[in-house]
Amino acid sequence: MPYSGPFQAGDRVQLTDAKRRHFTIILEPGTTYHTHRGQIAHDDIIGADEGTVVQSTMGSDYLCFRHLMVDHVLSMPRGAAVIYPKDSAQILVEGDIFPGARVLEAGAGSGALSMALLRAVGEKGNVISYEIRDDHLEYAVSNVEEYFGERPATWDPRLGDLKEVTVEDLDGPVDRIILDMLEPWEMLATCKDLLIPGGVFMTYVATVPQLMKVMEGIREQKCFTEPRAWESLVRDWKVEGLATRPEHRMNAHTAFLVMTRRLADGVEPPRPQRKARR
Ligand SMILES: C[S@@+](CC[C@H](N)C(=O)[O-])C[C@H]1O[C@@H](n2cnc3c(N)ncnc32)[C@H](O)[C@@H]1O
Repeated sequence: MPYSGPFQAGDRVQLTDAKRRHFTIILEPGTTYHTHRGQIAHDDIIGADEGTVVQSTMGSDYLCFRHLMVDHVLSMPRGAAVIYPKDSAQILVEGDIFPGARVLEAGAGSGALSMALLRAVGEKGNVISYEIRDDHLEYAVSNVEEYFGERPATWDPRLGDLKEVTVEDLDGPVDRIILDMLEPWEMLATCKDLLIPGGVFMTYVATVPQLMKVMEGIREQKCFTEPRAWESLVRDWKVEGLATRPEHRMNAHTAFLVMTRRLADGVEPPRPQRKARR
């Protein structure tokens, strides 16, 4: 899939009208798109630069851009709730997803995180995505394939329960494990065996009871560093002269993030030093 350059047949294009409404089309020579304000010929877009404006037959202007990955994630069909871009961004950096990394992910859900991971590991990396539900795996596969234009050679989507996965199934331990599921604490004993010493384990949980259970579970395994928990809050701003202020609405809560690292075999986690209570 081309990420830049003039528009080509087959590109997924986002049209934006004057009211900032979005319409998505796939460019096909000789085809027209029907809006409530007249028709747009795909041939007027093919060959033009991104950021071009086309006019419908009734004179309305539409701004044309290819989908960014965030546009795709927020508009694609879903079987399960997706990890929002603000949290994927945290996972990529705090989880240290590096080019060439071997990453294990579960559950694949709708494939939103899979896409972000695949881009970050690059051509030499590998993402293995387990999903227990076949209907969800179908969503993940179709969304990822639609975004990349084909199934990336670096992606290995698998139907199955992560809890039953062995290190042999993965041809050796992985560098990073990222979980997004209801009960990640149930997977910790498995993940302990699948993660290389020094490897990063991250999980994404929506509620406080889940957060408490997974933090305690990580400590009980006695093979991980003291886990860190946090959330990311992103607030847009309206910037218009004297009306400049934070937007009234925001996604105030999506989920908590938890991160820890695998210790070497046989090492006891150092006890965190806490201030003595008075
Ligand atoms: C919230 S969704 C994941 C969404 C995904 N991260 C995304 O960004 O599109 C959670 C998924 O975990 C799957 N799941 C739950 N337990 C699992 C397990 N033991 N092994 C594999 N997948 C599991 C569920 O079926 C569900 O599809």
